[in-house]
Amino acid sequence: MTQKFRRTHHCGELSDGQVGDTVTLCGWVHTRRDHGGLIFIDLWDKHGLTQVVLNPQIDQLAHQEAQTLRNNFVIAVTGKVRARPDDMINPKLTTGKIEVYVDEMEILNKSQTPPFQGWDDQDVSEVLRLKHRYLDLRHATLIRNMTLRDQITRVVRKTLHAQNFTEVETPILTKSTPEGARDYLVPSRLNPEKFYALPQSPQLFKQILMVSGMDRYFQIVKCFRDEDLRQDRQPEFSQIDMEMSFIDEEELFQLVENMMTAIYKGTLGLTIKTPFPILKYQDAIDRFGSDKPDLRFGMEIIDLADTVAGTEFKVFADVLKKGGQIRALNAKQSGEVLSRKALDDLTELAKTYGAKGMAWIKVNADGLQSPIIKFFKQDMLDAMISKLGAEVGDTIVFIADTPKVVADALAHLRLDIGKRLNLIDESKINLAWVTEFPLLEYVEEEKRYVAMHHPFTAPLAEDLDKLESDPASLKARAYDLVLNGNEIGGGSIRIHQNEVQQKMFKLLGIGKEEAEAKFGFLLEALQYGAPPHGGIAFGLDRIAMILTGSASIRDVIAFPKTQKATCLMTEAPSEVDKKQLKELKLKFDLS
Ligand code: AMO
Ligand code: AMP
Repeated sequence: MTQKFRRTHHCGELSDGQVGDTVTLCGWVHTRRDHGGLIFIDLWDKHGLTQVVLNPQIDQLAHQEAQTLRNNFVIAVTGKVRARPDDMINPKLTTGKIEVYVDEMEILNKSQTPPFQGWDDQDVSEVLRLKHRYLDLRHATLIRNMTLRDQITRVVRKTLHAQNFTEVETPILTKSTPEGARDYLVPSRLNPEKFYALPQSPQLFKQILMVSGMDRYFQIVKCFRDEDLRQDRQPEFSQIDMEMSFIDEEELFQLVENMMTAIYKGTLGLTIKTPFPILKYQDAIDRFGSDKPDLRFGMEIIDLADTVAGTEFKVFADVLKKGGQIRALNAKQSGEVLSRKALDDLTELAKTYGAKGMAWIKVNADGLQSPIIKFFKQDMLDAMISKLGAEVGDTIVFIADTPKVVADALAHLRLDIGKRLNLIDESKINLAWVTEFPLLEYVEEEKRYVAMHHPFTAPLAEDLDKLESDPASLKARAYDLVLNGNEIGGGSIRIHQNEVQQKMFKLLGIGKEEAEAKFGFLLEALQYGAPPHGGIAFGLDRIAMILTGSASIRDVIAFPKTQKATCLMTEAPSEVDKKQLKELKLKFDLS
């Protein structure tokens, strides 16, 4: 059966230009007001609201039906657009100058009273919002977020297609790819006791596509990682994944910078500065304590090892003796903000990152104030103050510990103090490359090296001969793209020679057999004319989160999962029939 009414306009479209036209609108009853004989309805769709007026004198039947209308009913109306009287104009609505005077109406569907009105700002718990996500998705913020996300993917496809990239789909039922998280496993019915892994990324497929001569690949692709969730992590998330043959860092950076420029222009209409600054990993750690520094403000870390050498302050002396570091931040003009209470809170924050304490000195007009100055001679104090460029009103905070603890604690103190002092200009867009990561990381508990990025990343060419002799010193041809303190993408130039890849596996303690079982197909492909290649993957959700100014990536995903990786709407994961389990020949206790 064809629909009686065919929609001519959406609910955010009409204005005084259409006065006199006959139109048909379809949508949801947002609000209903009875005014004597007249019924006013704000009709909603995702584009906006239009006021429609039902007059009993025009159509008795429609009017009777209109009396049964409740919020959230789905209706279609046909009528004439007319100008609202001057005193009824609503300047807040794009359709605020008109209304539709209804000739005919049809109720397309009734509705129960919804648990909340998605389109309004209401104090609704996130649990309820996620359970009824279809209502939540009507909120203007989420509509805007989903629209902006769509714009990003459109711009990406257009930019990359213009650069001769081909979008290729890679399998979801596949083998494990090591990206550092746990795999989601899927049992195979036709091959009992065998499992597929959902991809943590299409890493190996995209490299193999380079062997096939695909040359430039991209994919907007779901990835799955069973890891502990945070604000910027989901168990399934989307990557903008790319790989290119015959490419080096310089060319890749340029390509990505063009893509980011197009994204900002195409979504927010903003122009960003290129080229992005490049920061070496070690410099990022030394200056900001983090490999994803927020560069929208300064307050860099200062090394005081030389300045306090020979100190009698036991805490510092002991750390120095053990080869540790003493580093500090100068929080300029923080006098009032960094009260004793604030300093206590900062100390607690530092402790959550492993610090044993946090020393501080306040530079007051009447001299220095600090629990530690009594341990220092005046000339050493003067040297510290001078090295930190401290003036009246400043507060210095110190951490003494191993390099890792010092970096972690100071990185978080810097961000926290930056927020307290309002140093972060939210309108700034700061994109930067971080390069020259260490190739390997030593995992104390496992007594072995693991790849810092992944095992397919090439070492810097000048380091190749140290692969066996001095692995700890190796640097990787890996790069991350950092946006306002968030890692939004990461990639590397890959190993494209079979022998180098085998050496790498050996270094990581992956024996010949294990390498063959897990990555035999890659090693084999590398023997058949693998070109030099490299790539990168971006977290689409993270980019959308930042561009929309959202607090969590859940706000840019239509159907996100909770902290416990559940979907409150579908109630996944859920139990399955015993029959299904039997078919899979899984060894469960089925009694
Ligand atoms: P990586 O593991 O760095 O690299 O992932 C690339 C980007 O994906 C995003 N991301 C996530 N977003 C949301 N939730 C998650 N759980 C999550 N995990 C990662 C981040 C990250 O920068 N195969 C390599 C890329 C390559 O070498 O080309 C890879 O997956 O923004
Ligand atoms: P204590 O002598 O242990 O009372 O410490 C004196 C001061 O040094 C206190 O303000 C502590 O918070 C601080 N402190 C202790 N351990 C460290 C550390 N590892 N790094 C920086 N400051 C510390």
